[in-house]
Amino acid sequence: MSPQSGSLPLLRVERVSHDYTPATPALAPVTFDVAEGEFVCIVGTSGSGKSTLLRIIGGLLQPSTGVVWLDGARATEPHPQIGFVFQKTNLMPWRTALDNVLLPLELLGAIGPTQHSQARALLELVGLADFADAYPAQLSGGMAQRLVLARALVRHPRLLLLDEPFGALDALTRERLNLELLRIQTGQRQTVVMVTHSINEAVFLADRVLVLGEQPGRILAEIGVDLPRPRNLAVMGSEKFGAIATEIRRHIGLVEE
Ligand SMILES: Nc1ncnc2c1ncn2[C@@H]1O[C@H](COP(=O)(O)OP(=O)(O)OP(=O)(O)O)[C@@H](O)[C@H]1O
Ligand SMILES: [Mg+2]
Repeated sequence: MSPQSGSLPLLRVERVSHDYTPATPALAPVTFDVAEGEFVCIVGTSGSGKSTLLRIIGGLLQPSTGVVWLDGARATEPHPQIGFVFQKTNLMPWRTALDNVLLPLELLGAIGPTQHSQARALLELVGLADFADAYPAQLSGGMAQRLVLARALVRHPRLLLLDEPFGALDALTRERLNLELLRIQTGQRQTVVMVTHSINEAVFLADRVLVLGEQPGRILAEIGVDLPRPRNLAVMGSEKFGAIATEIRRHIGLVEE
């Protein structure tokens, strides 16, 4: 498993499993660590338990066995230090972009000028400064996902969980958002665990890729991505990038041995 540096990992997933029903185990016990500032991607076929695993880490689903540790403490319910972006956007249609970003802060307490300027700064960060007063229906798919990202960042989460955040977007928008995500992650040294169907996306973004297999979901391989940072799209054409992507495909069974 992951190398142990001696210091505590930000996230430790320890023998976590989940059965939705006794007859259908969705996730076999999985164990891995994520260090502070690390970007980990999870790839795997549909039904391999990726969303199940992410929901357990986010405290939205109780594991059948095992423990999730955040900074050395057991995390058993939605944690203010964890930000979550789901497969589908769940914006409030009757709230403006700004008010959607403010929502997690409202749930914590009073909203004042500090919170407003914080939310506006985040809209700026994700390139939506001019759309603070727009409603979700007035945003494109890519803009809506950026807004969801801003909302997930508003509480300065120690850990950001992304479940196929750009899955529904066209390839060009997706590439652009990946670049923005890298910029944000690097700038804030944000720790990220992201589920994606795209092997290229995983290799481009991650420090490490976990490959999940199905029935029940389990970790087939953990692959380090030692491509230099900062990365730009040109890295995708490099020989090393291709070799890492091929290794991941081999583990998923997409390449003949
Ligand atoms: N609420 C649920 N009740 C019962 N079974 C479920 C539930 N959610 C998921 N499952 C089952 O658990 C397994 C893992 O599902 P999960 O959604 O975690 O997969 P996934 O890897 O995220 O798939 P995808 O790539 O399609 O999003 C699947 O076999 C699925 O049918
Ligand atoms: Mg899923």
